[in-house]
Amino acid sequence: MENNKKIIFSGIQPSGDLTIGNYLGALKNWVKLQDQYDCYYCVVDLHAITVRQEPKDLRKRTLEVLAIYLAAGLDPEKNTIFIQSHVSTHSEAAWLLNCYTYTGELSRMTQFKDKSKRYGEATVSVGLLDYPVLMAADILLYNADLVPVGKDQTQHLEITRDIAQRFNNLYSPTFTIPEGYIPEAGAKIMDLQEPTKKMSKSSDNPNSYILIMDSPDVIRKKISRAVTDTLGIVKYTDEQPGIKNLITIVSSITAMNPEEIEKKYEGQGYAQFKSDVADIIINELEPIQKKVNEFLSDKTYLESVYKKGAEKAYYISNKVLRKMQKKIGFIPKQ
Ligand code: TYM
Repeated sequence: MENNKKIIFSGIQPSGDLTIGNYLGALKNWVKLQDQYDCYYCVVDLHAITVRQEPKDLRKRTLEVLAIYLAAGLDPEKNTIFIQSHVSTHSEAAWLLNCYTYTGELSRMTQFKDKSKRYGEATVSVGLLDYPVLMAADILLYNADLVPVGKDQTQHLEITRDIAQRFNNLYSPTFTIPEGYIPEAGAKIMDLQEPTKKMSKSSDNPNSYILIMDSPDVIRKKISRAVTDTLGIVKYTDEQPGIKNLITIVSSITAMNPEEIEKKYEGQGYAQFKSDVADIIINELEPIQKKVNEFLSDKTYLESVYKKGAEKAYYISNKVLRKMQKKIGFIPKQ
């Protein structure tokens, strides 16, 4: 029975084209979880507007992310797949949770500090500061047990837990305290040009990331340009962050462990290794890309998926929202 299954919630922002970081750190794992858990996977468009978005790009990317979810193997019959802005309970719950969150704890978030530095203080919106509260609302509204994300989201999960605990202590048990579910390999795919930094879809340098939709030629070029070192040994070590990152990518796609990969390339230079890395990525992404394009050419189908998803998500989350409102002391509508 679905009701006995543990609950999972996760989402990706349609704020840029998705990278293999998003794929290996999150999406690929979601697909593995869909049979065991009751999963809610959301395209978090409300989060995307915390930095300025071109309306037509946002519309296009939102559908693209949805198509990528499906193409990567998420089955809409098994999972609840929806678009965040279609389910009004998320914004409502975020407002309520705002009143149980302190500005001090939000301004300490690393991602907020990084982004405000990047975009300049004058253009930092309240939304950017408030972003983790909306994320807490996403997760708590479904009483999620597990949240499969990459390592960069750990701090946001922690604040979610703090907010939930605070609300539970103040009133009575209302929310499940969620746990992160971070993959063993692929939790942090690094930038190809600066391999000590996380690979990010918002980077200004296209050579620093591989997009899920990059063509084989582009993937080959980007991997051949990936920064390595002069040691010439394929070794999984912090001393060689570029090579370590490429090993991580191979390891999370093929399930070979780093030692096996080191062994395979013993005595060989980087040229062969890089060429194989590119092939492995291309083999993984090509079938997905084909399906993405098929889904994108069937807007009616996509619409049926997100409509059905939003209905179910609203039904489930509204029950939790009502509970929150009642505990806070609001008068019920009817
Ligand atoms: P976002 O859109 O930045 O990233 C989506 C997912 O991809 C993971 N990720 C990575 N994993 C490994 N290596 C990388 N280089 C890399 N880059 C990104 C992220 O960890 C994430 O899992 N706040 C979230 C979206 C969100 C959410 C939620 C997630 C909103 N509400 C509720 C979980 C639950 C975000 O901005 O992810």
